[in-house]
Amino acid sequence: MCRFLTMAVPGVGLLTRLHLYAQRRSRVQRPVLRLLSCPGTVAEDLRRDEQPSGSVETGFEDKIPKKRFSEMQNERREQAQRTVLIHCPEKISEKKFLKYLSQHGPINNHFFYESFSLYAVVEFCQKESVRSLQNETHAPSKGMEVAIPFRSRFFNLKLKNQTSERSCVQMSNQLPPSSKKLFEVLRDAESVDDQLNTLLKEFQLTEENTKLRYLTCSLIEDIAAAYFPDCVVRPFGSSVNTFGKLGCDLDMFLDLSETRNLSTNKTSGNFLMEFQVKNVPSERIATQKILSVIGECLDNFSPGCVGVQKILNARCPLVRFSHQASGFQCDLTTNNRIALTSSELLYIYGALDSRVRALVFTVRYWARAHSLTSSIPGAWITNFSLTMMVIFFLQTRSPPILPTLDSLQTLADAEDKCIIEGNNCTFVRDLNRIKPSENTETLELLLKEFFEYFGNFAFNKNSINIRQGREQNKPDSSPLYIQNPFETSLNISKNVSQSQLQKFVDLAQESTWILQQEDLGGPSMSGNQPWGLVALLLPSGANRKSLGKKKSRKPANEKVKVLLESIKSNRTENFTNTNGKRNISTQT
Ligand code: GTP
Ligand code: MG
Repeated sequence: MCRFLTMAVPGVGLLTRLHLYAQRRSRVQRPVLRLLSCPGTVAEDLRRDEQPSGSVETGFEDKIPKKRFSEMQNERREQAQRTVLIHCPEKISEKKFLKYLSQHGPINNHFFYESFSLYAVVEFCQKESVRSLQNETHAPSKGMEVAIPFRSRFFNLKLKNQTSERSCVQMSNQLPPSSKKLFEVLRDAESVDDQLNTLLKEFQLTEENTKLRYLTCSLIEDIAAAYFPDCVVRPFGSSVNTFGKLGCDLDMFLDLSETRNLSTNKTSGNFLMEFQVKNVPSERIATQKILSVIGECLDNFSPGCVGVQKILNARCPLVRFSHQASGFQCDLTTNNRIALTSSELLYIYGALDSRVRALVFTVRYWARAHSLTSSIPGAWITNFSLTMMVIFFLQTRSPPILPTLDSLQTLADAEDKCIIEGNNCTFVRDLNRIKPSENTETLELLLKEFFEYFGNFAFNKNSINIRQGREQNKPDSSPLYIQNPFETSLNISKNVSQSQLQKFVDLAQESTWILQQEDLGGPSMSGNQPWGLVALLLPSGANRKSLGKKKSRKPANEKVKVLLESIKSNRTENFTNTNGKRNISTQT
């Protein structure tokens, strides 16, 4: 969860990290996912789905088959179980590397990436190949320190003889674009719609990054399985709800429902057999105990998991750690099924219309650029709340672009029925049963209207509610009230202060005004001036000044410099927060 703290990398100063970051970035090439043949696999599905379809390209929706969330999760999990992570020497021949690994069985696909050193993700066609590789692998030879013998799917490849070969592997990029690159591509876009789609394309999770997220969960699952053999570690939040951007945290849910189901009554004749178990006074204590041992295990035995923190007194207890090889900041929770269901709902909303994700990514990026959101917990709006606001806004269009949660509930069948802790979480899971919207409004119009809508919203008396898709009276005096879609008596933005809300309203009004300016209407009118989305990302006030006195505008490059500085300071903050300590907030 983004609002949670992440670990410091010991001994690495901020400047060093920024420098390494810049170096790494310059060496990274276009993502390449090598798909070898293995018929009937998910990879083959994806290869098929990756063919251009000729529809409006946001670069993502065509790649997402209209699969149920659970189907997609199960397939990716199974794929991850056939996959290994290998730390590679700097100089490696891809061809020889693959030949060497193929001794253990056919490889379905692979890719390389850099995260301070070189790593390979290799997906075999069969699980047996992983076992064969493990059986052939040696424990590290004794050095000064003693190795804890643990056989994971995370390996270290060494070269017996130094080679003079140059490394000739292509890297997959796991980081978002630099602000400089982003502004270049936004400047060259053809329209505001094009800018929004470009931002989405540049920031969305890549296929490789998604694979790496599922693999990381699978590696953690191996550890948890030592205690709970039937457990499943499922990613949730922005890693899977289609709203994640490169670099976002990895939220994991330790699902013990299978283990629990083992105790459902199975009678035979007059007999009823139960497990002998330990009992504790409450669900919360059980959760704390389970997370406590898993946390110990991760800390002591799991290679690559560093800075493990057990945050068991938070409203939603969790274990937080840094997975060094993937670079992900991870939050592991259990007994948090509603959050997984929220991710499923957002996945559906994200897949229903190609404009949804473009708008959400833009609003989130805009909010970050203006420091409306932060990775430090506090009185600011969260990404989750912003996503809810965009969904709500799209429900209020005429005709609506997104259906209300109540109407998704009406479309549900018996299979979709779902009650979690007494909360009704029923909604249709089959995307193909939801009628597409007839609304044809452009992204440019929607963005302008979004800012206008919330710049004038009666936050003092009304609440936002995606269940009904219309404003309602606020049940309490919180400055911002966004009803939790499943735990309907809760407000997901309870933490937001009046001053943060006011900042949001002021910026929304200013953004409406900027988009209304004729000379920001498109690239042809703007000459060298920042236009459209770039103008929206300028520090507040800069636009008003420059637009008010057209003749005395700052040169474009100066403005872009101001903008780059502002984004850089956000990025620096990001770095501080992903590698430094953050505080803990509780979840509503
Ligand atoms: P990022 O900022 O990209 O990490 O977005 P995210 O959606 O992953 O948010 P975060 O990591 O903060 O939380 C993970 C998931 O937990 C969200 O997607 C929601 O499903 C759920 N969640 C987060 N915040 C709240 C909250 O305040 N209330 C409730 N009910 N659920 C929340
Ligand atoms: Mg998250």
